[in-house]
Amino acid sequence: MTAVLPLSSIFRSEGHSHMAFDEIRSVVAKVEADIAGGPIVPTVTPQEIRSYLTSRYDFGKPLALDDVVADVERMLRTWQVQVTHPRYFGLFNPSVTLASIIADTLVAMYNPQLATWRTSPAANEIERHTLAWLGGKFGLPANAVASFTNGGAEANLSAVIVALTRAFPDYGEHGLRRVSASPTIYLTAEAHHSFNKIAHMTGLGRRAIRTVATDRHLKMDLGDLARRVAEDRQNGFAPLLVVGTVGTTGAGVIDPMSELARFCRSEELWFHVDAAWGGAAIISPALRGHLAGIDGADSITCDAHQWFSVPMAAGMFFCRHPDAVGAAFRAETSYMPGKTAGPVLDPYTTSVQWSRRFIGLKLFLALAHHGESGYVGMIEHQARMGDVLRESLTRAGWRVVNTTPLPLVCFTREGLVTAKFLAALYASQVAWMSEVRLGDGAPVLRACITSFRTTEADIEWVVREMGRLT
Ligand SMILES: Cc1ncc(COP(=O)(O)O)c(C=O)c1O
Repeated sequence: MTAVLPLSSIFRSEGHSHMAFDEIRSVVAKVEADIAGGPIVPTVTPQEIRSYLTSRYDFGKPLALDDVVADVERMLRTWQVQVTHPRYFGLFNPSVTLASIIADTLVAMYNPQLATWRTSPAANEIERHTLAWLGGKFGLPANAVASFTNGGAEANLSAVIVALTRAFPDYGEHGLRRVSASPTIYLTAEAHHSFNKIAHMTGLGRRAIRTVATDRHLKMDLGDLARRVAEDRQNGFAPLLVVGTVGTTGAGVIDPMSELARFCRSEELWFHVDAAWGGAAIISPALRGHLAGIDGADSITCDAHQWFSVPMAAGMFFCRHPDAVGAAFRAETSYMPGKTAGPVLDPYTTSVQWSRRFIGLKLFLALAHHGESGYVGMIEHQARMGDVLRESLTRAGWRVVNTTPLPLVCFTREGLVTAKFLAALYASQVAWMSEVRLGDGAPVLRACITSFRTTEADIEWVVREMGRLT
C-alpha cells in the first residue's frame, strides 16, 4: 500500500495537538454552531437568486477559487432551509456526522468508479462489508444481495423490477405485453409516493396500484388486503407485490411486519419493506422489537441518508433472491476489460446504475468511528426526543393524532389553520415543520426529530414559542 496519504495525515493526530486536524474539526463545529444560532427558513424569491447569479457568473473569465467558495457558502447559509439545524423538525433530512463529511471529501478526491469490482476493489469490498453488517441486522441470509443506491426511490424501483423479473421470466425480454394477466401492487395511502412513479416507469401503469385500507392507527388492514388480493385474482389480475412501510413519511407508522410476511408467503406475493427512514431502528435494542417480522421480507429499502445521519445521497437496496437480482440487472459490454471472476459481483450487473460514486464510504466511516453503540445512542436519543415532544405538546394543550414509537409527531388543536400557523412559525424562525393530511382528515402539523443534536431544551422552547403564535 502507498505510504503517501495526504488527507488521512491531516486527521491522524486526533487527541494530540495537530494544527490541520484541529482546524478542520473546528470549521465543521463552527458551521454547526453558526447554523444552530441562525435562521432556519430563508426568505428569498427565485428572481433574487437568478439576478444575483446572472450579475456575477457569466463564466467569461476565471475567478479566484477562494472567492467563489466563500460566495457559494454564503448563498447556502442564506438561501436554504437549514436541515441540520437542531430545530429543523422536518422530512427525514438529518444532521450529519463529521466522519461522514470527511468520507464524502475522500470520495470526491479519489473518485473511485464502482461499476465494476476490478476497477475499485477496496471501495467495492468496503461497501459489501457494510451492507452485509446491516443485512445481518435485518435477519437476511448471508447470500442476500445488497447495493447502495441514490436513495429510497431507486431502491423501491429496484424491488419492483426484481419482483417482476422473478414472477414473469418473459418480462425482461418481451416486456409486460407477454404477461397474460396485469400485475398489481398493494400498499396503503400512507406509503411513499415513489411507488406511483415506479408503476408508471416499469410499464405496470399507475392503475396497478391498489390502495389498501388502514386501521385507526393508519397501519395496513390485513383483512382488506386479503379481500383485494382475492378479488383481483378472481378478476384475472396477477397480484405481485405488497409494500409494508417502516415509518411512513406522513405519520411514522409501522405496518404489521410479521402478519404481512406470513400473508405474502401464503399467497406467494413479493413482500417489500420500505424502511427508508425507520430501518435504522433495527440496531436499537429499545426499538427493534417494533420491526419484528422484517426478516421475512423479500426485499428492503433503507436510507443511510435518513436516520443513519450521513449526507445525501445514500440509499440501500437489500434482496434475499440473488438469482432474481442477477436476472433483472444482467448486462454485458465489450468495453470493460475481462469479466470479474471469483466470489464477487460487479455492481453494474446487480443494480440500476452504471457509473457510480462510492456511496457507501460515509456509512462505513461513520459506523467505524462511532461504533454500533454510538449509533444506537444517536438513534435512541432521537426516539426519546420524540417522546419529549409528544409529552410537551400534550401538556401545552395540543392534540397528538398519530401513534408510533418513532420520533414523528402529528398534532393539532381546535380551530388551527395550519398554513397560517406555519407561515407565522417560519417568519419567527422558531422551527421548521410541515403540514400533512392523514387519511381523509384535515391538515395537521407534522414534526419529526431528525437531528441527533436536538435537545430537550430546544423542544421545550419551541413548544413554548408555538403557544405564543396560536
Ligand atoms: C418511506 C419512504 N420511502 C421512500 C422514500 C424515498 O427516499 P429518497 O428520498 O431517498 O429517494 C422516502 C423519503 O422520504 C420515504 O419516507
